[in-house]
Amino acid sequence: MAGTTDTVAAAKRAAGYQAAEMVEDGMVIGLGTGSSVFYTIESLSGRIRDGISVAGVPTSYQTAMRAREYGIPLTTLDDNPVLDLAIDGADQVDPQFRMIKGRGAALTREKCVAAAAFRFIVVVDEAKMVPRLTGIVPVETLPFATKTAMAQLRGLGCRPFIREAVKKDGPVITDNGNFILDCQFEEIADPEALEAAIAAIPGVIESGLFTRFQKNTTVIIGKEKKCSVLTSADVVP
Ligand code: A5P
Repeated sequence: MAGTTDTVAAAKRAAGYQAAEMVEDGMVIGLGTGSSVFYTIESLSGRIRDGISVAGVPTSYQTAMRAREYGIPLTTLDDNPVLDLAIDGADQVDPQFRMIKGRGAALTREKCVAAAAFRFIVVVDEAKMVPRLTGIVPVETLPFATKTAMAQLRGLGCRPFIREAVKKDGPVITDNGNFILDCQFEEIADPEALEAAIAAIPGVIESGLFTRFQKNTTVIIGKEKKCSVLTSADVVP
């Protein structure tokens, strides 16, 4: 059963805070996007005030603005192409640590940052843990080729919709200047194959399917009082 807003926020806070404890002095880390990572930023801010030295690569304008507000020094993948760890939220995580991300439209930078990190720390509340990935896969597309990409995505068995902005007329424009397609799948039988097939479509920048991070992923599942921590040893084969 889905939790109340308060219990979900408490779970995200617990997971986000626990992730912040994994950051060590001198680390360069990836900072994901969304409400769960916000709590990591908040907690990390206290640890920096207490004396640890950390720099973060933000995955969105939102995260960059929050990190600056909370006193977290920022850097870039140009200056730090190898990260000690990346901390991020997710929309769904299956028992093999395959994920769907991108509710906040930051999926492309999130995937780049996760791929640059030795460890990928995923912070979620319990409702995000699912037996199998299903439903909407966000896909970032070049506006120039969005219509042709949509036709090819339909061929993969989904119904793609251009994501509409809320306080702006027209489509959501990502931090990279592109569109987001929300691709509604009835079933995702083979997430790895689907991620590869979507990536092969001309005009697709990235998809929110993250299927290749099992080996270096730690999932922190927030609960109101304490968290469960799963590592690759817990992946169901
Ligand atoms: C951003 O584009 C997303 O990938 C988020 O990381 C994901 O939707 C999780 O967000 P919350 O932590 O806000 O649930």
